[in-house]
Amino acid sequence: QTSEMDITDIQKGGYEHFMLKEIHEEPDVVKKTIDSLMQNNLLDLLNTMPNLKQYDQIHIIACGSAMYAGMIAKSLIESRARIHVDCICASEYRYANPIYTGNTLAIFISQSGETADTIAALQLAKANDVATLAIVNVIGSTIARDADHVIYTKAGPEICVATTKAYCTQVAVLSLLACYLSYVHGHMQDDEVMQLSKEIKTLPKLMQQLIEKDYSAFAKKIYQHNDVFFIGRGLDYSLSMEGSLKLKEISYIHSEAYAAGELKHGTISLIEEGTPVIALASDEDLYEKTISNIKEVKARGAYVLLIISDDLQIAHDGYDDILRIPKTDKLIQAILGVIPLQLLAYEIARLRGCEIDQPRNLAKSVTVE
Ligand code: G6P
Repeated sequence: QTSEMDITDIQKGGYEHFMLKEIHEEPDVVKKTIDSLMQNNLLDLLNTMPNLKQYDQIHIIACGSAMYAGMIAKSLIESRARIHVDCICASEYRYANPIYTGNTLAIFISQSGETADTIAALQLAKANDVATLAIVNVIGSTIARDADHVIYTKAGPEICVATTKAYCTQVAVLSLLACYLSYVHGHMQDDEVMQLSKEIKTLPKLMQQLIEKDYSAFAKKIYQHNDVFFIGRGLDYSLSMEGSLKLKEISYIHSEAYAAGELKHGTISLIEEGTPVIALASDEDLYEKTISNIKEVKARGAYVLLIISDDLQIAHDGYDDILRIPKTDKLIQAILGVIPLQLLAYEIARLRGCEIDQPRNLAKSVTVE
């Protein structure tokens, strides 16, 4: 018993929990993932990615956080590469009788490569002769073996049940995939390729800066509440879904993520004096709209923690607390944006004394339907 505990402590490498250790590994594993696909610049993707130019419809299928990574890919690929993308959870997809064109690509995202619903969805696509691409972390796993093409995330083993570093590497691969598709479809010019390639290389350093920030003051204001709301638009909405999932998984606080503009169609009735609202506004094209939604919740007494990119301006009375994230190209912004959400969830769960690495009722890999 004692020696087993010692081994676990050694594996934690001095961190209190695997979750914190794994968040600290994010800059390194994202770098490894990017390096495996892009040595010099984004043009390398023409050689390192499978040839996907022929597909004019994409289905992204996954479960849990992997599906939320897929939602980010949907926004990026549709807005930049102009290809229609549906993102569906595997448990629905497998029974939905999906519509395929002659040129559909089905992308399966999975850390473990063993999630039962995702495997069944992959089998369905294959039975319909649809081309399949897997984005998987575990080498040789079922999904990696069965798909036509596979791109590996380089997150290494992830112990904490709630995923952090694997999600980051999934978003990294999907961002590069969006760049690749934009380029091969003529929506990204060579000068943009070069500029973006440089920005991508700065990501690990920017991630590190975000990891080193102290989130405990915000966590102290939130941890005793029973309900938390996340709001955002566009990419920020997809990120909100992951932030909210992380919080409820490990802290057992009820939390919901809402498209900021949708709040007034019902959920705003739940906002009371002091209700925490975590508002994400990293998208320069949409942030003013989100700011007006923030005003709506503040007027009803919400405590607003605003997460905003560091180039955007906002009046001091527009929030209660503010957290700034470095401005980057939208194609890679989400990799940074998730870090404060992960660390906030972690700090809140710690203050509540939760079993962070092994939350009740949850499994790392869901191998049954
Ligand atoms: C479980 C895990 C989640 C994960 C999901 C999908 O619910 O707790 O963290 O996102 O399964 O797992 P996969 O291995 O397919 O990415």
